[in-house]
Amino acid sequence: MPETLQQNVLRDEQRLPAVPDPGVVVIFGASGDLTARKLVPALYDLAQGRRLPMEFAVVGISRTPMSHDEFRQKLRKGLDEQRAGSVSEDVWESFSKGLFYLPGDSKKPETYEELKAFLQQLDEERGTGGNRVYYLSSSPSLFSTIVERLGEAGMSQEEEGSGYARLVIEKPFGRDLESAKELNGDILRYFREKQIYRIDHYLGKETVQNILALRFSNGIFEPIWNQHYVDHVQITVAEDIGVGTRGAFYEEAGALRDIVQNHVMQVLCLTAMEPPVAFDADSLREEKVKVLKAVRPIPEDEVGEYAVRGQYDGGWVFGEEVKGYREEGNVAPDSETETYVALKLLVDNWRWAGVPFYVRAGKRMPKKSTEIAIQFHKTPHTPFSGPDTRGLEPNVLVIRVQPEEGVSMKIGAKVPGSGFEVRSVNMDLLYGSAFMEEAPDAYQRLLLDLMLGDPTLFIRADEAEGAWEILQPVMESWSKDGHSARYAAGTWGPDEAAALLGHDGREWRRP
Ligand code: BG6
Repeated sequence: MPETLQQNVLRDEQRLPAVPDPGVVVIFGASGDLTARKLVPALYDLAQGRRLPMEFAVVGISRTPMSHDEFRQKLRKGLDEQRAGSVSEDVWESFSKGLFYLPGDSKKPETYEELKAFLQQLDEERGTGGNRVYYLSSSPSLFSTIVERLGEAGMSQEEEGSGYARLVIEKPFGRDLESAKELNGDILRYFREKQIYRIDHYLGKETVQNILALRFSNGIFEPIWNQHYVDHVQITVAEDIGVGTRGAFYEEAGALRDIVQNHVMQVLCLTAMEPPVAFDADSLREEKVKVLKAVRPIPEDEVGEYAVRGQYDGGWVFGEEVKGYREEGNVAPDSETETYVALKLLVDNWRWAGVPFYVRAGKRMPKKSTEIAIQFHKTPHTPFSGPDTRGLEPNVLVIRVQPEEGVSMKIGAKVPGSGFEVRSVNMDLLYGSAFMEEAPDAYQRLLLDLMLGDPTLFIRADEAEGAWEILQPVMESWSKDGHSARYAAGTWGPDEAAALLGHDGREWRRP
């Protein structure tokens, strides 16, 4: 064993049980933002929490020329930005010795020969045991090529005793149904489904997993979680930020592909699905796919009645003047790309017949807020009437995914004093005060599961395709009619979105 590993401060006889086997995480597109901002800080957190084996390494690949040391410095800078003031020098010292960089063109077969030799060298020097995770964080246009090159180089095979080979694909997974099917086909030529981990970081969020905990570890919610009691559901993924430096990416993606196809659809599935028999990959994903299949297809000529898209103009957010989307860097001055989407979806099954799911996602909203609101039917009759009930609304159960993670229930209560005035008040649970521990970052959880070989919180091929299938008519209609409704930055979206619910006699909530 090399000297550096003997001195590794991560060695600890008291290690927690769920520590992955030795292995290497190879990141394609490693000079990009995600590696420095999310992946390496999450791996560092795992190291700090003693959840990484000592025999561990990261190999970054991209075209930018860089030495191992320059790569480490870049990652350290990213880590300092993300974990300001809390980086332990001892942990970093040990962890950073396992960070390596190979400059190379991921289109060229030579890169893979070099990578293969380097990984073998790491197996010998650091004891990484032939286990490999290939993390595709490059431009999505390179996904198929990288998979093909890995396959051709024999790096996708898991032979008896040779260690595992797992493939992680970042979103967006394709840009429509056809390209997602093609990508699935390309990958499945070289990797088996059980080796493939399609990632959606929302599934790594504690509060997204808490949707399941709330629903299936409490006896009181399931009996009322259906059309008999629920009037409608609202899912909101609002962000106060604009597109920032990601204009070029966003021009290609838009909010429908960037957020709705993945994060929103996943949250919808977890909210609407039937109880799985177990919390394992097959059981959970089977139930999610059933929800996607039950979503009523939107006829292309009726898209206007079910979908609204908007784009932000200049405005004010948190007292600061911000520019409009068309003035952002790398955005066309006449762009119609949507930065806001609202959809009305119907889930045609026994449980949800007739209950609309209104979903919305937008940038430059007044604040960041991701939540699921289950609005229950009004009481059939109220003995209190007149002006005394003006402040009374139907019960709403709100699961706040972020920020102020928690659950609240709006209930009617008597206003203290004489008379009988009733008003809605919130019963609030804040996870932060119920559990004194800080929730781990989504990527931390997902990277750990990945190394442990647990695909439960990753997306299966048919899920990715199912979500695209729902959105396909919307994309097709929008590609013909290029117009996005306008909304001022710092507002809750275009008037058309309010009308989508207004038509049904309902209103969006103010998160
Ligand atoms: C990413 C999108 O997947 O999710 C971004 O590409 C978005 O546009 C981000 O800002 C939101 O994630 P979170 O965890 O901040 O809600």
